[in-house]
Amino acid sequence: MGVGIIGTGHYAPDNIVTNKDLEKIVDTTDEWIRSRTGIEERRIAKDDEDSSDMAYKAAKRALEDASIKAEDLDMILVATVTPDTPFPSVACMIQEKLGATNAAAMDVAAACAGFMYGMITAQQFIETKAYKHILVVGVDKLSKITDWTDRNTCVLLGDGAGAVVLGEVSEGKGILSFELGADGSGGEELYQSKEDHLVMNGREVFKFAVRQMPQSCMNVIEKVGLQKEDVDYLVPHQANIRIMEAARNRLDIPEERMAKTIQHYGNNSSASIPIALSESLQNGKINDGDVVVLVGFGGGLTWGAVALRWGK
Ligand code: ACO
Repeated sequence: MGVGIIGTGHYAPDNIVTNKDLEKIVDTTDEWIRSRTGIEERRIAKDDEDSSDMAYKAAKRALEDASIKAEDLDMILVATVTPDTPFPSVACMIQEKLGATNAAAMDVAAACAGFMYGMITAQQFIETKAYKHILVVGVDKLSKITDWTDRNTCVLLGDGAGAVVLGEVSEGKGILSFELGADGSGGEELYQSKEDHLVMNGREVFKFAVRQMPQSCMNVIEKVGLQKEDVDYLVPHQANIRIMEAARNRLDIPEERMAKTIQHYGNNSSASIPIALSESLQNGKINDGDVVVLVGFGGGLTWGAVALRWGK
């Protein structure tokens, strides 16, 4: 038996904010944002739409895709750094909304690597046969901690949610290996300030990310005796196209085999990997039996990667 993804779903708010819109509020240009980050537009939630609302919509779609009922869930893990409130958790809020009455529920905070942390935590419960079905959601409403006067950060961020259901899959399919890591000494490079703003040393985070993402990709494939030639599809955290390209180049795979949603969504933090995965599946980019690598990094500093063989 393996442990794998048996359903996916995602949701992003309707409201589109383009680079041109941002030109009106900070000293920036569409050209600068596109060329330095790959971002063209992002989705920004309205005031009355919080993380739990977005998480619920993505979760509902993932349950439908997995063809299981909310009552069949044994656990809900929500990766987020922008919960509606510290408690109750977003996981408890959506447990109630979904009617997942048999599920334990908690939030996981590892910034943009949060979804990887959530997914690997879920895997352990299923592998030990404690649980059968676990919903893992990545959601962030970064717009509520964005300093809209800071051009260094406000052009990068967006809101959204992505979800997967993990369950048993056949032998040889599902998660093959993982890596999770943290370096608390880099905490001051990316954090939430006392004023509740996201503060970032872009250059340092960039240097860390272009080193860590490619390395983590190689680590997870080498752990299971695979070569970079064996990787069919890459789903990297969508923070900056130049960082994503560093991972793609290390694996030496063509452009069309890397998930790319950054142009439409910007950096969705915990949500970016599951949104990119869900869209890739919708677009028929991933086939049964493919070796897929998911990789992310974020504030903490944190990082995580998974190699999996797609299919049930
Ligand atoms: N528009 C125009 N100019 C800008 C903007 C902007 N929006 N933002 C910064 N600049 C300026 C800077 O002020 C700087 O000007 P200066 O030289 O006069 O000081 C100049 O552009 C170049 O700045 P750099 O930092 O060298 O630009 P760089 O090419 O590195 O791009 C960026 C900056 C996009 C932030 C990049 O460093 C990056 O992507 N870093 C990683 C960010 C990231 O991945 N964060 C992920 C975590 S977010 C989370 O966890 C929720």
